[in-house]
Amino acid sequence: MPPSLFVRHKSKAGRKEMILKDIWKDIKAVQERDPAARSALEVLLLYQGIHALIWHRIAHWFYVHHMFFVARLISQIARFFTLIEIHPGAQLGHGILIDHGCGVVIGETAVVGDNCTIYQGVTLGGVGTAKGKRHPTLGNNVTVGSGAKILGSFEVGDNCAVAANAVLLRPLEENTTAVGIPARPVKKDGVALPKKQKMIIGEDDRRLMKEIEGLRQEIESLRREVEELRAAGNVKKDE
Ligand SMILES: CC(C)(COP(=O)(O)OP(=O)(O)OC[C@H]1O[C@@H](n2cnc3c(N)ncnc32)[C@H](O)[C@@H]1OP(=O)(O)O)[C@@H](O)C(=O)NCCC(=O)NCCS
Repeated sequence: MPPSLFVRHKSKAGRKEMILKDIWKDIKAVQERDPAARSALEVLLLYQGIHALIWHRIAHWFYVHHMFFVARLISQIARFFTLIEIHPGAQLGHGILIDHGCGVVIGETAVVGDNCTIYQGVTLGGVGTAKGKRHPTLGNNVTVGSGAKILGSFEVGDNCAVAANAVLLRPLEENTTAVGIPARPVKKDGVALPKKQKMIIGEDDRRLMKEIEGLRQEIESLRREVEELRAAGNVKKDE
């Protein structure tokens, strides 16, 4: 193991990373945000989300030092044991909770901010086959519910929540909750957003619309009649 593995190095994003410190913050995050967690030792030994993060932080070190094969090998071993696939190129902040974990996939150019929570079955993926930045960037304190997919190269602002099973394809402003497929914002700054009304047209509605159209035509013909009478001088303007 290279001697400098546990000292500061500069990540691709320019963030100064300290692997042991980040791992400790990840363990604290589990203790703070998972009510089932009992002790730091239990979290360290028995939580596969933590194991995946430890493996990832080591694999990422190799990745930023251009040892891509070793980096990928470590991430594949981690995937085998944890069922969590984090590409070694992904940039993860600290205090991350990957809860339950199985089925989580985080792509090469994904960025995850500090104190994010990611549940089982989440994909931070790309669309298409183009190279370059193709995965999402999550801000700080973002929650991604179980089974949610965030696909494409765009930003999800700080303190956002992407609901369980949502498929998010567009950027989200900070403090927004998005739900559904495709995901749409339903809450901003804790306040519910107005719902788009979908009109369901039945037989009664059609009859009513016909009557309204009839009345509209009648008003139009009366208006024309009045204008003609005015033009002929039979009706004064204020009558
Ligand atoms: C989105 C979430 C974070 C809730 O956020 P919130 O800000 O408290 O939002 P609310 O509960 O007030 O819900 C807002 C609206 O979104 C809807 N909504 C919430 N979660 C939803 C989901 N997963 N899919 C579809 N709609 C959802 C609610 O029904 C509500 O709609 P309404 O206004 O028509 O009633 C939460 O529902 C969620 O999905 N959390 C992930 C939890 C998870 O994955 N747990 C796994 C544990 S193992």
